[in-house]
Amino acid sequence: MKSYNIALMPGDGTGPEVVAEGIKVLDAVSKSFGIKLNYTKYDFGGERYKRTGETLPDSAIEEFRKFNAIYLGAIGHPDVKPGILELGILLKLRFALDQYINLRPVKLYPNVDTPLKDKGPEQIDFVVIRENSGGIYTGMGGAAMVGTSQEIATQVMVYSRSVVERCMRFAYDYTRRRNRKKLLTLVHKCNVLTYAGDLWVRTHNEVGEKDYPDIKRDYNHVDACTMWMVKSPEFYDVIVTENLFGDIITDLGAMIQGGMGIAAGGNINPEGVSMFEPIGGSAPKYTGQNVINPLAAISAAAMMLDNLGECEAGAAIDKAVHDALDSGKIKSMSAGRMGMSTTQVGDLIASMVA
Ligand code: IPM
Ligand code: MN
Repeated sequence: MKSYNIALMPGDGTGPEVVAEGIKVLDAVSKSFGIKLNYTKYDFGGERYKRTGETLPDSAIEEFRKFNAIYLGAIGHPDVKPGILELGILLKLRFALDQYINLRPVKLYPNVDTPLKDKGPEQIDFVVIRENSGGIYTGMGGAAMVGTSQEIATQVMVYSRSVVERCMRFAYDYTRRRNRKKLLTLVHKCNVLTYAGDLWVRTHNEVGEKDYPDIKRDYNHVDACTMWMVKSPEFYDVIVTENLFGDIITDLGAMIQGGMGIAAGGNINPEGVSMFEPIGGSAPKYTGQNVINPLAAISAAAMMLDNLGECEAGAAIDKAVHDALDSGKIKSMSAGRMGMSTTQVGDLIASMVA
């Protein structure tokens, strides 16, 4: 029997509640597909930071390297200053494990409300591949004369050809494997960011021309992309973009697919250890009430299986999520309005993959 070792980081707020439902579904699907998942739990997050002052020690990173994947709930605490946990846990992990791809499907399931008028599941089904290791997130820059009226600050969008190219190759391969429109749209702002944008544009063209003649290429400026995502999301198949632009457009993507309750993401190192998460936050006000939507965490679990090479098991979860929503049993994606509790939604999906 194939077995996988998974590091669990349930994290803060409602993170543990949604991770518990994800595990329920993972365990059910594992039985059906004859695989085994072994979990090791870590308590990194806001609570631990408040208790010990520790975010994520280097020793934990070394431990994480030995796992097949990491399954994350949510990191964020209302009493911890913004930036500490984000930088100290989430970004630290992404960088240390070189999870250079952030994979964010934007898929509207049946019966899920989208704020877009006259758009349905047929029109909203694309994937954003966000470069996850470079750009402004690298942290290069500085400030001088801080606190004076002449204060200056810079934060630099850093990219090397190799960092752009590895992301681009992942995106082309993904577009090929997805096998839909076979269209890879680069999103950037090359009309203004003439150096960094040009690097991305040339890499998109050169890699595509040489090694992916079967994949069509398109280009959108990021501002126009936000417009098209709302007006004509059906244009897209796969989008590839740099880190900060990807951060911004994937929040828009989450909203058009029905909100944070349903949006999942993967921080992927194709050659290493990847981490999967519901992209919503820790939702502190819903903590402990059994009302938060676990579907995003369940979809993140499906992505994890797919990434581990257990594609059929992953697809079975995705189908269960689809069919459960199609049945109309889950009334809304919003916390407290599902017409079911968190655990009932988990039970429902688990029963469908058992
Ligand atoms: C995300 C988040 C993070 C990011 C924050 C919490 C550092 O917004 O995963 O999209 O900016 O990447
Ligand atoms: Mn974000």
